[in-house]
Amino acid sequence: MNLYKHVSESINKKLGATVNLEVPRNRDFGDFATNAAMVMAKSTGKNPRELAGDIAEKIAELPFIAETSVAGPGFINIKLRDDFIWDAAGAKSDTTASEIKKIDLDYGGYNVGKALHIGHLRTTIVGDTFNRIAKSLGHKTKSYNHIGDWGRPMGLIIAWILENGMPESAAELNKIYPASTARAKEDEAWLQHAKEVTAGLQAGDAKYREIYDAFMKISLAQMDEVLRRLNVLPFDATMGERGVAEYVADTQKILESKKLLVESDGAMIVNVKRDDDTAPMPPLMFRTSSDTQTYAAADLSAIYYRNKTDNPDIIGYFTDSRQNLHFNQVFRAAKLADITQAELFHTGFGALTGADGKPFKTRDGGVAELLDILDTATDAVRERVAAAGKTLPDDTIAAIALAAVKFNDLLHDVRADYIFDPNQITSFEGRTGPYILYTAVRLNSILRKADDTAAAKMGEMTTDERNLLIEILDFERTVQSAFDNRATDMIANYAYDLCQLVNTFYHNCPILRDDVDSATRTQRLHIARIARDTLTRAIDLMGLVVPDEM
Ligand code: ARG
Repeated sequence: MNLYKHVSESINKKLGATVNLEVPRNRDFGDFATNAAMVMAKSTGKNPRELAGDIAEKIAELPFIAETSVAGPGFINIKLRDDFIWDAAGAKSDTTASEIKKIDLDYGGYNVGKALHIGHLRTTIVGDTFNRIAKSLGHKTKSYNHIGDWGRPMGLIIAWILENGMPESAAELNKIYPASTARAKEDEAWLQHAKEVTAGLQAGDAKYREIYDAFMKISLAQMDEVLRRLNVLPFDATMGERGVAEYVADTQKILESKKLLVESDGAMIVNVKRDDDTAPMPPLMFRTSSDTQTYAAADLSAIYYRNKTDNPDIIGYFTDSRQNLHFNQVFRAAKLADITQAELFHTGFGALTGADGKPFKTRDGGVAELLDILDTATDAVRERVAAAGKTLPDDTIAAIALAAVKFNDLLHDVRADYIFDPNQITSFEGRTGPYILYTAVRLNSILRKADDTAAAKMGEMTTDERNLLIEILDFERTVQSAFDNRATDMIANYAYDLCQLVNTFYHNCPILRDDVDSATRTQRLHIARIARDTLTRAIDLMGLVVPDEM
């Protein structure tokens, strides 16, 4: 059940008005509170405290309310019945949204012939979690890996391979683009050659195409390996700049028919500036003066393609915030040309920095590769476990490191910069992935040991048991809000709050201890089980893997 929604809607119905329902930080006085009396008193000129008394009495008539009370100038505190909380938390929880949408999601967007780097970490993790959230609400998603597989970089790589032969591994392949680019900077003839190869490839040259297909295979395998290690869902479509090249002509026709395409110094642009813009809004570059397909043309044509094939209600993008302007331009052009009716959104991330606040670099000062991050975290976990005098299997170490990296990535407001501190994120305490896993492992272990099949009946409930159940009943609302606000951090923070309540419950409410009577044990095991199930759902949304032991 979505508890908040249930309580809020019931009260609104009862009072025949929409009231503002708050969740107090401290639940000593009530599970919910409302300032409705104070708001209504203002408009009716009544005494707020008196009015609060009347409203509180009415609310108390609802069957799931234990009591209401008036505090201060007219606040109403609302306490729910224990048996209602117990039953609601024990009932099947269903997150299906009231309106199912078709959603195209664009994240990943790796580049062929290059290693995945640190900039691809967040798009992958946040994009994947958003996809999982949408799916859990019943939405029909299609994830696109809009890869960079076209244009000058391809010519530079092919030219190099023509001279030096096909690389044997991804590691070798990854070196080619930087080397060829460096050479093109110094050697005008090489640059010219690379340009010709690029044009040849795009015109369908068979030899170039054969080389392209061969290193593409190496690249895609490399991407798959990273995706596997990150435990993200496979992409539904890997269709990037080359794939959409086919649709550029159609897109261009639409722009022309709407008189949106303008010539400017030999290039073709779309003016997307509006009169009320306060920030600079340069035109979208559709084709360069040297007649090459642009990054913007690819994205605009991708929207055209997706609209035609998927007819989505929403198209969402997850990239770093340096692309904010780009997507703003593309969205404006798409709407001006009426290429799609879909709602378009772009979530731009802040940067990942080292503990010193500077962009995260490798030890030798280079751009960190994505897997370096995971390796660094894995080393930190291994050291920590050894320091605690424990030994854990490698796949457990890997699962903990993955949780550390992913949780840290999801925890922060996506728009903000955030810090990658291997030591901090691998701690087993505090707002960290390992803490979340540890709590899940603990619950699993209790439930495994208990082997109790008796049906639970509610007896006396302690505050800790009650608080935990109420948090569990906030799961559905959290998933819905995370989706509505495109805020994956809500899931991470929810998981943390839930774990804290689980651990307080565990600490204060013994379960398996000998002096606990069997009815209490069964009741607590029941609570532990629903807590475990809810935590598992949150963990699944984040794509973490729970080990057997920690
Ligand atoms: N390939 C680009 C990069 O690595 C990101 C692509 C983002 N997605 C998109 N539809 N433009 O920077």
